[in-house]
Amino acid sequence: MADIGTDIDRAISALTEGKLVAIPTETVYGLAGNAFNPDAVASIFAAKNRPAFDPLIVHTGSLEQVKTLALKIPEKAGKLANSFWPGPLTLLLPKREIIPDIVTSGMPDAAFRIPDNPLTGKLLRALPFPLVAPSANPFGYISPTTAAHVNEQLGDKVAYILDGGPCEVGIESTIIGFPDEGPTVYRAGGLAREEIEKCIGPVQFIRHSTSNPKAPGMLKSHYAPRTPFRLGKLPEMIRQLEDRKTGILAFGKIPDGIIPEDTVVMNLSESGDLKEAAKNLFSYMRQLDNAKLDIILAEKVPDNGLGRAINDRLRRAAAE
Ligand code: TXA
Ligand code: MG
Repeated sequence: MADIGTDIDRAISALTEGKLVAIPTETVYGLAGNAFNPDAVASIFAAKNRPAFDPLIVHTGSLEQVKTLALKIPEKAGKLANSFWPGPLTLLLPKREIIPDIVTSGMPDAAFRIPDNPLTGKLLRALPFPLVAPSANPFGYISPTTAAHVNEQLGDKVAYILDGGPCEVGIESTIIGFPDEGPTVYRAGGLAREEIEKCIGPVQFIRHSTSNPKAPGMLKSHYAPRTPFRLGKLPEMIRQLEDRKTGILAFGKIPDGIIPEDTVVMNLSESGDLKEAAKNLFSYMRQLDNAKLDIILAEKVPDNGLGRAINDRLRRAAAE
């Protein structure tokens, strides 16, 4: 188990020594290391049990710093950066040589993000190097949205956990790249399509594939609880249950009289608020996963705003 606290100096020393520190962001907690230190980066892959072909996001404290790390920033990328950084947005930009190849799994583009969390912002601005930080969970499991979540699973792999409280957005950043065909979203996330399109016009979305896509986080089975997880229409799924200990991840009003006795119900947002649902999603999935159930049932949420990213995570959780 690691120490948990708000001591930025302690985080700075550990990171400077090449150790790993868990950091809060508005999306999810990250498992951070010195991006310029290939050994530190390698230890992140090892700690998460993450395949080496799945690259890491470079976190910085300012756009000026990004300019020293990226070869160029296309016009639309600049517009997005100015509008939404710090925030739940990750931009794929051609990297300069100073970023080690292990960070990008050998690809020419690196992923950049300025997170919106006061503690981590302070930390990033105090450090003379950027931080790579994947979500601080074992590869393939649900992302952590509290310091305690990190401690449960990676507590023995980090020197320190910086505690920024529960994550405000609760779902990972939206990843956008700028290939010749135009701005492309590789991962739906905490910045909604509507906001992006208001800023730069139409964007296309890439659906995940099963092998080695451009954003490998788009692997189909990801974010998965260990308990069998089914996505469908609640009344139908409930009718097919045979005496199993059941959990339900609900959203909005549940029709009267359909929930069997002894069912554990967690409602992402009783009032049907998608932001509230995103904030609760991973934490509720985790609680249900720890409740010793035979099966967890969930229904899709409306596909607008953050609903798109929520549905994406629900689909992955349910993928075989
Ligand atoms: O909100 C977030 O983005 C969080 C917080 C900690 O910042 N980080 C996060 O990192 O979700 P991770 O490693 O769990 O997911 C990053 C995704 C992966 O799917 C990875 O494949 C993709 O970003 N990615 C990273 N670098 C890339 C690159 N150079 N080209 C394409 N995809 C990249
Ligand atoms: Mg992740």
